Amino acid sequence: MARVFSGIQPSGGMHLGNLLGALRNWVAYQHEHEAVYCVVDLHALTTAPDPAELRRNTVAAATLLMSVGIDPERSTLFVQSAVSEHAELAWMMECTVGFGELRRMTQFKDKSDRTEFVSAGLFTYPALQAADILLYDTDLVPVGDDQRQHIELCRDIAERFNHRYGDTFVVPAHVIPEAGARVMDLQNPDDKMSKSLESAGTVGILEDADGVARKFKRAVTDSDGEVRYDPEAKAGVSNLLGILASATGRTPEAVADDYAQYGPLKADTADAVNELLDPIRTRYAELSSDPAEVARLLHTGADKARTVAVATLKRARSNAGLLPRS
Ligand code: AMP
Ligand code: TRP
Repeated sequence: MARVFSGIQPSGGMHLGNLLGALRNWVAYQHEHEAVYCVVDLHALTTAPDPAELRRNTVAAATLLMSVGIDPERSTLFVQSAVSEHAELAWMMECTVGFGELRRMTQFKDKSDRTEFVSAGLFTYPALQAADILLYDTDLVPVGDDQRQHIELCRDIAERFNHRYGDTFVVPAHVIPEAGARVMDLQNPDDKMSKSLESAGTVGILEDADGVARKFKRAVTDSDGEVRYDPEAKAGVSNLLGILASATGRTPEAVADDYAQYGPLKADTADAVNELLDPIRTRYAELSSDPAEVARLLHTGADKARTVAVATLKRARSNAGLLPRS
């Protein structure tokens, strides 16, 4: 059975892009593969969040993953910092990746342009991400399109390590959905939908149905009035078509054929999204009333994850010439 691994940052509200680009695939994969999913709180530290907020967001992210349908009995679901092997292997990854390779990462360029203090951790972020993936002998990594470059770098790191020290890691592949891989901001459809930018263009997974409908109603389109899928020339309309297609399991081109005007397209997209979000909101309300149970499930997940991580780290340490631990 193939092993699947993916991670998500606990930074504020999860949004429709996370759901369509990544989480829906996570849910599907746990039925076909051995799935390991992680709330990556160490990655969140790269931007120095407020501690109380980080704690709250970590629990909220884990609760949300369970609410979208990640079954902690079936999958391994845990919080990254609970398995300290991630941080230890990350150092070995930092010594395997090139400075020039890290400098080419577009996510680093974007994020460092937006923040005043740029931590070294923000720069070496992909090395920690590679450690996350390689610790579990991962075959497949389901992510949105924005993570393509990081997973490709992870492959290069794994290959370089294997070449230097002998066969140690499985070289993983990314899986990116056809529709929904890049959900754009409803107000600035040239930018991807993101939780770090506070925006009326971001649809939160837990936002109420009226709020969601309002955001779609106000979504930026264009003035030529033609419903056509053309992400280059018609970013706003194409984003709506992409979202509706992803939510209903069709192609954006086929969806475009059903509409002559923007109004009905916006209304139907809002309805389809609300239909997707409704059961998630209900489940989240239920689960968040029992935080002790969520904590218990996460501890069990971390114990399961650690068993695999310890063995992989031991192999990596030994192959690289580090002495055995006492
Ligand atoms: P993050 O929220 O950055 O931790 O991302 C978690 C997952 O959601 C990753 O697999 C991303 O590729 C995916 N993702 C984030 N934003 C979007 C977006 N706007 N469209 C599609 N996928 C996204
Ligand atoms: N960097 C990813 C993001 O911003 C989150 C992440 C951390 C991840 N470790 C991972 C994704 C390992 C896939 C696999 O979305």
